[in-house]
Amino acid sequence: MEKLLIHGQRPLCGQVSINGAKNAALAIIAASLLADDIVTLENIPDIDDIKNLVMVLEKMNVRTTYLDKHTLRIDSRYMSNGCADSENVRKMRASYYLLGALLGRFKCARVAFPGGCDFGVRPIDQHIKGFQALGAEVDAKGIISIQARELRGANVFLDMVTVGATINIMLAAVLAKGTTVIENAAKEPHVVDTASFLNSLGANIKGAGTDVIRIKGVQKLHGSTYAIIPDQIEAGTYMVAAAITKGDITVKNVIPRHMDAISAKLKEIGASVIERDEEIRVIGCETMKPVKIKTLPYPGFPTDMQPQITALLSTVPGTSIINESVWDNRFRYVEQLKRFGANIDVEGRIAVVDGVDNLVGTEVEAVDLRAGAAMVLAGLAAQGETYINNVTFIDRGYEQLVNKLNAMGAWIERIDSDTPIQIMQEKVI
Ligand code: EPU
Repeated sequence: MEKLLIHGQRPLCGQVSINGAKNAALAIIAASLLADDIVTLENIPDIDDIKNLVMVLEKMNVRTTYLDKHTLRIDSRYMSNGCADSENVRKMRASYYLLGALLGRFKCARVAFPGGCDFGVRPIDQHIKGFQALGAEVDAKGIISIQARELRGANVFLDMVTVGATINIMLAAVLAKGTTVIENAAKEPHVVDTASFLNSLGANIKGAGTDVIRIKGVQKLHGSTYAIIPDQIEAGTYMVAAAITKGDITVKNVIPRHMDAISAKLKEIGASVIERDEEIRVIGCETMKPVKIKTLPYPGFPTDMQPQITALLSTVPGTSIINESVWDNRFRYVEQLKRFGANIDVEGRIAVVDGVDNLVGTEVEAVDLRAGAAMVLAGLAAQGETYINNVTFIDRGYEQLVNKLNAMGAWIERIDSDTPIQIMQEKVI
């Protein structure tokens, strides 16, 4: 176990290249199980969540080979049933995509309940509603067990915009008889990327990226080679790093359109945001302004950027208001941010942030993945030294975060968790 030691208040300048999108890659790896032949995925991020899902696949008799660090070959031709019940399944949320993929392929899926970050209740009733509409029977006690004699296209109106249910229903429907229509579908870039990937295998999906997706079932899916889109949230995190350190960062290998909500808020706060074809340059400024933010499904401001932007706003003079409309309980990290001296009041889904002149380095926990990123950002801005425990959360979703930040002028070390903090401070002095 390791923790991070950040020596704060160093402006970050330079360039950073963004890796493939975690949440697209996880869905697409699961979707690969629907193909009758070999699938080669490029731009796969080298992060723990992906390694965990690959281990799940290996235990299901799927042959996985890394052709290089970011290119994964998946051969699921020798898989014989729809069972996924290893410890690794319970470690992550995205293992629920195995339900749709296995149901689509074997008309039967037995998958352990998914784990993942704790944001309060994380129901999967909309996934189940979709599977049932396609003709499946679902038993979700202890282990999730789904079977269908045959899957038939159906109309599914989602009660709320959900990324996971939209993708899962797509996975179950691509090989079903007839046409499935998902209404009130999620429009996130990774929903579109998963649909594009499935179409590259021969699926017939139209409308991904709008709120009505039509899936005409096909008989089989062939192999393909497909490159995953860049990670919107990784890119957004570095954009905020530029603003919070009053630095100047060019974020390369992004799709600027995916970043619109984040770019707009950073501009409103006062940073300069300059977009070019596949890169965005963010220049921080001395005088920043408070803002109001409401997290929303795409194209709104992403909930997965909420902790990072809150870290920034805790350093912006004046009162900012953050309304978390996606998750019940995504402000658990605020207690940690307060240890830096941030002045934040949380009432239910609303956080009121009164910016302070200076954050001061301290010891904090990464309580989940994006919360961990927010702690890093606060540590970069804070006076003195910051220690962040539970780095494993950060490693789940950010490839080479420390090296990328250090290459732009940060001073961050990974140290053994057992290293007493006092001793480290003496050593650094
Ligand atoms: N919801 C239901 N019933 C369902 C499904 C969802 O009530 O059957 C509710 C949820 O409780 C939540 C809302 O609908 O209030 C949205 O949930 P969604 O299904 O969109 O979330 P998810 O698919 O479980 C993905 C990402 C999350 C990201 C959300 C929202 C993956 C693996 N996870 O989760 O990413 O916060 O979409 O954009 O794709 C992260 O990367 O750090 C992360 C947590």
